[in-house]
Amino acid sequence: MRVMVVGGGVSNEHAVSIASAAAVADALGVRHEVVRATIGRDGSWQVGGMAVAPSSLVAMLAEVDVVFPALHGVGGEDGTLQGFLTTLGVPFVGCGVEASAVCMRKDVTKAVVSAHGVATVEGRVVASPAEAEDAVRSLGTPVVVKPLADGSSVGLLVAHTAAEVAAACAVSPMLVERYAGGLEVDVAVVELDGVARVGSPLEIVRTPGGVFDASAKYDGEPPFVLPARLAPGIRDRLEHESLRVFATLGCRGIARVDWFVDGDRLVLNEVNTMPGMTRLSQVPRMLAHAGVPFEDLVDGLVRGAV
Ligand code: DAL
Ligand code: MG
Repeated sequence: MRVMVVGGGVSNEHAVSIASAAAVADALGVRHEVVRATIGRDGSWQVGGMAVAPSSLVAMLAEVDVVFPALHGVGGEDGTLQGFLTTLGVPFVGCGVEASAVCMRKDVTKAVVSAHGVATVEGRVVASPAEAEDAVRSLGTPVVVKPLADGSSVGLLVAHTAAEVAAACAVSPMLVERYAGGLEVDVAVVELDGVARVGSPLEIVRTPGGVFDASAKYDGEPPFVLPARLAPGIRDRLEHESLRVFATLGCRGIARVDWFVDGDRLVLNEVNTMPGMTRLSQVPRMLAHAGVPFEDLVDGLVRGAV
């Protein structure tokens, strides 16, 4: 098949996406004809290294069988590109408009899965100093402050006072959450040959009071344990619940469902509809551990694109 792999993008995760797209394109190149496309930080497109105007882009998209949007964050993982491709009738890998948009917003994801009985990290959206006071009073400290719609831990911080929370929320409303206890465990869900399956759960080793922030993710070797240290019964429930979250949110193709496992409590952290896709990223590792090499993973995703 002729597959356009798109990387870069306008979000804060541009550089991470460039790495994901390069890995995906290299792995797909084993079995497919790959067209490499890059979206600049300014939103302009290059295909095969050449600048492309929007009108020519539409013509180029008509000549590919599938698009693999290896894009993270707003503009690529939030439903906008997915809507464009859907309108053009171009098949693409991964979640459609609705699941992408819902999962991009951490507060909306939590509201949706909560309505289906999934526990989520206790928290609230804070938009003012008074709300910061309230949040700290009810959640205790420390709290974790996160942008509503960003990824790769951009803008994430651990705050110890209401003043710190208020300062972090001064520019735009933020999600403020209780510092979750337990193990931090990611589960890859992918649809291959029409069947949704999970990879081996991966544990992120936590530092006391710390978070898996951008530096822990991208500077040096990330602190992963694979498979996660879970009792068999908990692992079964975690895998079952991850598949349920995937289906509940209307996900398609691929998602990484991130949890805290506190004793026997499963608490959802968030869902990433286009998770990091380098060979060292969680999803490729989790699938490889479960017996699906990276080349088979990306090939299966492309063959399942709709
Ligand atoms: N948002 C980053 C790429 C991840 O979830 O892996
Ligand atoms: Mg994320």
